[in-house]
Amino acid sequence: MEKNSHLEPQTALIIGGCRGIGRAIAVRLANDGFDIIATGRTHGDHVKTLQEEINAIGRKFTFLAFDVCDHAASAVALEPFSENTPDVVIYNSGIAKDNLFVFMSKDEWNQVIDTNINGFYNTVQPLVFGMLARKKGRVIVISSASGQTGQAGQVNYSASKAALIGATKALAREVGKRGILVNAIAPGFINTVMTENVPIEKVLPLIPLNRAGSADEVAGTVSFLCGPDSSYIHGQVIAVNGGLVI
Ligand SMILES: NC(=O)c1ccc[n+]([C@@H]2O[C@H](COP(=O)([O-])OP(=O)(O)OC[C@H]3O[C@@H](n4cnc5c(N)ncnc54)[C@H](OP(=O)(O)O)[C@@H]3O)[C@@H](O)[C@H]2O)c1
Repeated sequence: MEKNSHLEPQTALIIGGCRGIGRAIAVRLANDGFDIIATGRTHGDHVKTLQEEINAIGRKFTFLAFDVCDHAASAVALEPFSENTPDVVIYNSGIAKDNLFVFMSKDEWNQVIDTNINGFYNTVQPLVFGMLARKKGRVIVISSASGQTGQAGQVNYSASKAALIGATKALAREVGKRGILVNAIAPGFINTVMTENVPIEKVLPLIPLNRAGSADEVAGTVSFLCGPDSSYIHGQVIAVNGGLVI
């Protein structure tokens, strides 16, 4: 049995669970004993191979296709889970549209705010009532080091990720009494498609560990926050950043 394996199968819903960090979280939690519900905008080979990987671990896999910016579509897709809520909900969907603020277009601003923070409302809010009724559950929000410190060229992204930290802390205060744990993770520079065009030589001098992080290292922290050893961690922001922010 894995460290976090549970006596009864539990279910983890990962919003944005089929690529990059979200995919690594899906595989890690399946190995921990969770059945996986993963969302993304479109089905494709990447979803099929993930499904095969999760099934090979021996866990169930369900894919939900919708755009988190679309409130109505999110509500329809998540309606089956409004009462029978997953044990763990992870909000991982996010995009960056970097530009200096002086040149930032309304589209760059709106798309990032819409995906990163309105998407959190559209997907997590419909599930909270069910969690309150069950008096258990965990919500984990993937924020960013940029939301902790602010990052030049990322006023939109930093604002959205700081907003997620505020939302995490406020929600933790609302639902803690009902046994629901709410925490955020703030990754630093992680090797995924999102960072593939960022010149690593400019970032490394800022990271005391002198390397980028991996999606698996973020997934390991999610695993901890989903497991029994984190039962008294609530309303916190856990940094996974190699020392980028100290
Ligand atoms: N990589 C880093 O260095 C880093 C650092 C700090 C924080 N983060 C955060 O970590 C999270 C995952 O990022 P990543 O690096 O793994 O990037 P990624 O590979 O580009 O993954 C982005 C995820 O967001 C989903 N997504 C984007 N727009 C969406 C929309 N409109 N509706 C539904 N889902 C949407 C994508 O799903 P589909 O494409 O399948 O629809 C995908 O699962 C993001 O929130 C990001 O801000 C990343």
